Parts: sequence; C-alpha cells; structure tokens
Amino acid sequence: MTEVQPRSGAARESWTSNSGFIMAAIGSAVGLGNIWRFPGVAYESGGGAFLIPYLIALLSVGIPVLFLDYAIGHRYRGAPPLAFRRMKRKAEGMGWFQVGLLFVISVYYAVIIAWALSFFYFSFGTKWGDDPAEFFTGEYLKLPDEVGVSSELVAGVAWPLVGVWVAIVAVLAMGVAKGVEKLNVFGIPLLVIGFGALVIRSVTLPGASDGLNALFTPDWNALGDLSVWIAAYGQIFFSMSIAFGIMISYASYQRRKANMTSSGLVVGFANSSFELLAGIGVFSALGFLAHQSNIQVSELEGLTGPILSFVTFPAVISEMPGSALFGALFFGALVIAGFTSLVSIVQGVSAAVQEKFGLNRRTAAVTVGVVAAIISFALFSTTTGLYTLDTVDAFSNNVGIVFSAIVMCVLSVWVMRNIEELRLHLSAVSTFKVGKWWVFVIGLYAPIFLGIILVDKLVDLITEGYEGYPTWFVGVFGWGTLVLLVLFAIVGPLFAWKGRDDPGFRPWPELGVTQKASVKTKENQR
Ligand code: ALA
Repeated sequence: MTEVQPRSGAARESWTSNSGFIMAAIGSAVGLGNIWRFPGVAYESGGGAFLIPYLIALLSVGIPVLFLDYAIGHRYRGAPPLAFRRMKRKAEGMGWFQVGLLFVISVYYAVIIAWALSFFYFSFGTKWGDDPAEFFTGEYLKLPDEVGVSSELVAGVAWPLVGVWVAIVAVLAMGVAKGVEKLNVFGIPLLVIGFGALVIRSVTLPGASDGLNALFTPDWNALGDLSVWIAAYGQIFFSMSIAFGIMISYASYQRRKANMTSSGLVVGFANSSFELLAGIGVFSALGFLAHQSNIQVSELEGLTGPILSFVTFPAVISEMPGSALFGALFFGALVIAGFTSLVSIVQGVSAAVQEKFGLNRRTAAVTVGVVAAIISFALFSTTTGLYTLDTVDAFSNNVGIVFSAIVMCVLSVWVMRNIEELRLHLSAVSTFKVGKWWVFVIGLYAPIFLGIILVDKLVDLITEGYEGYPTWFVGVFGWGTLVLLVLFAIVGPLFAWKGRDDPGFRPWPELGVTQKASVKTKENQR
C-alpha cells in the first residue's frame, strides 16, 4: 500500500526504525527513577509485598496510559500542545500543562545528573572519605541546616551542570534521528553492560543475601496501607515517563506503519526489569555494607532518594575491593540513565516551542536550553538547592503528574470522546490489538483510582505540610510549582500559533478507524 502522508506530516522528523524508537523510549523510561527511587521506595513500602501493587499499577494503569500517550502522539503527530490542539482546539492548554511539568522536572533533574558527574569523578580516590554524609551535604553541597533560599552558587555543582546543559542542547540540535536516537542506541547497551557488571559483582559480595532478604521479604500488612499503593502508582508514572508529555512527543516521530502497542509492551517490561535489577544490585550492596559494619540491613540509614545514591552508596563503594571501578560504574550508570531521560524531557519542551512559534529545531533547542539552565542554576545549584529540589520534585510528581494523567483520561473519554478512534488507530497499526477493556480502564478505573490517590495526597500535604519544612517555603516551591503549571496551561494557548497549525490536518486514514469515529475528530477540530 502506498504511504499516505498528509501535508502536515511530510516534513516531520522521524526515527530511523521501530527499534530506534524502542531504544529511545527505553532510554527515557530507564532513568534516575529506576536507580535512586525504586529500591528505596520498594524497601519502605512493604519490601517483597510492594511488588504486588507495583505489578498491578504497571498492568492496570501504567501500560494503558502508555498506550494512550502513544495513540495521541502517533495519531495527531505533535508535541503535547499541538497533539491536543489537533484533537480539540480548546484542549491545547492540557498540552501546555504537560510542557510545564516537563520544564519543571528538567530544571532539577539536570542538577542530579550534575551531582552524579561530580561523584563519578570523586570515585577515583573515593574522595568522600570516611564520612560520606558530611561530604555530600557539607563539603560538596554546602547545605545550611536552616531550610531557606540562598543565592550562593556551589561551584562543584554549577560546573558539571554547565556540561549537562551544553550536552543536552547539542543532542537536541542534532535532531531526533541523528541526535536522540543515536545517543540511545549507543547509551542503552552501555548502561546495561555497565550496570549489569555492577549487579553481578554486588550479588557475589558477602552479606548480599541479607540485603536481598531485606528487600524481598514481604510485609503483607503493607498491602492494606493506601500510602503503599500511592507509592506504587507514583513510581510507575515517573518511571515509565507517562502522562507528562514525553511519550506523546516521542510517538509523534514514529512512522505511519509502526507497531505501537507491541513496542509499548517491550518498553514497559524493559523498564520494570531494569528497576528490579537496580533493586537487586542496590540491596545486595547494602547487605554487604551491613555485613561489614556488623549490623542488620534495617539498622542502616538513608535508604531512599538522593541520600541512598550519594551517601549510602559511596559508603558501600569505599568498602568494596576495587572501589574506584565500582564507583565509576555506579555513578557512570546514573549519568547515562539520567541523561537519556533528560534528553526526552527537554525534547518535549523544545518540540512544543518549535511547533508553536514556528522556530527551527536548533533555535528552539538553544532557547529552551538557555532558559532552563538559568533556572537550574538559580534555584538548584545554590547551597539550598537540595531543599528546593526535594520540594519541587515531590509536588510535581505526586500531584502534578497524577493530575495530568486524570485530566488526560477524562478528556479523551468523556470530553472529546475520541477514545474509540484512538483505540481503533492503535489496533490498526499494531499487532497487539487493544480491546474495549482499554476504554474501561482509561474512562473509569484510572480516573477513579488516581482520583482517590490524588485527594489523599493533597489532604496529606495540606494537613501535614512537607518534610517539616517551613510553611512559606512549601508554599513557594511546592504549591507555587502547581500554580506555575496551571499558569502554563492558561497562558500557553493565549500566544498566537505561529508554527504550522495546519487547519487541513487529517489524521492518517487507518483502515480500522470507522467513519463515525473520524467524524468525531473533524467535529472536535472545528
Ligand atoms: N522515567 C525517568 C526516570 O525514571 C524520568 O527517571
């Protein structure tokens, strides 16, 4: 059959192959969330029993929402604002909300990669010495005891951060196929080999089995705890890079004949496998640390988030024979995993700006990169950067992404009512057909379940605050982040559309999409 390329799609960049797309999507999914978030979250949320809510979250919402992202991106061929605008003009704001999320996440995510770069360097000679906690927060971050805002830049963070932003802009300027795809085709195998070697070494260390027992021994009572389910769903969204625009943007560069759902299954399971691998590697190493210190794994401190990677893990590395090599492997893996994810995060913003303002790829990448880098420096590479980063991360993830997922589901099923068209589109292009169950999940199960989670989280944040930080601080950086996202959604559509709006845009006329469903899209576009 001849490839029908509608006018608007003719000049669009594309991945060179389906496997190139899969690599890039895995590169996006496998990130800091897999290495520094998953092991700690699993340990804190019931150990082995956490795997049950985690798997349920993956299958019941993770994969279906990933399919929704793919369907929107592939059918409407745009970064979120253009894709939503093509679904229905008034929905463009939803796209800007997601761009806002991407932007906010990018400005702090880059800083964690900068820390990892520094620690990669510190590994040679284990520069953190005998007290990694004091080294990380004191000598390296120069973190004051009092939570607040400082304008004093930390040079050790700022310099690697310059490198991160320059590299990001360079990759994006090279384009989807020559920049992003090549980076992932090279980076992902390197990551798997490097991290795989680290995991193999970790499981053979004395005490490794104690660490694995600590991670996998189930605490069944945890299943009755709503916060454990919240943790599982939160982990799935961030980790799979779903519901905040990345996958819409990546799917938009897929060619017409692209096996979308099968690719999605590969990406989803590859991401979770890497997550499990990270859990096994990290906890084997923690078992070893406990063994060396003659204590139980449960007595170790700092098993989550940045502290796990930048305090506890350096302590493990110091104890390992061949420290420098393993330090370099661990922090090198963090840098590669984080960088390939950051590329996808910034790509979503850059593509949105490019499409909206009719810019070329390079100008859009440089503009977005410069603005994001300035904010990155000002807010997160100062001495108080850890506090701001922690707060912005918590609110954008636990509230922003979940809210975005709910609205996206509700819009597709109940407002624009084009879920059937999206379902038929996915089934027409893919070997794994999507049944009516998907409509049920997206229309009812996901919004209701995620709604409960969101309300619970909001009540908790309102009544308990966050981490005991001062109210004004949480107000500015936590609630302020959410206000900023809403502003993105309101203000974004107000700017005139200078790029290729293409009112004559027609979705690809897939065989499976009924005339009735296509009519719905045409009505929406008016
Ligand atoms: N999916 C990316 C991560 O896990 C954003 O870090």
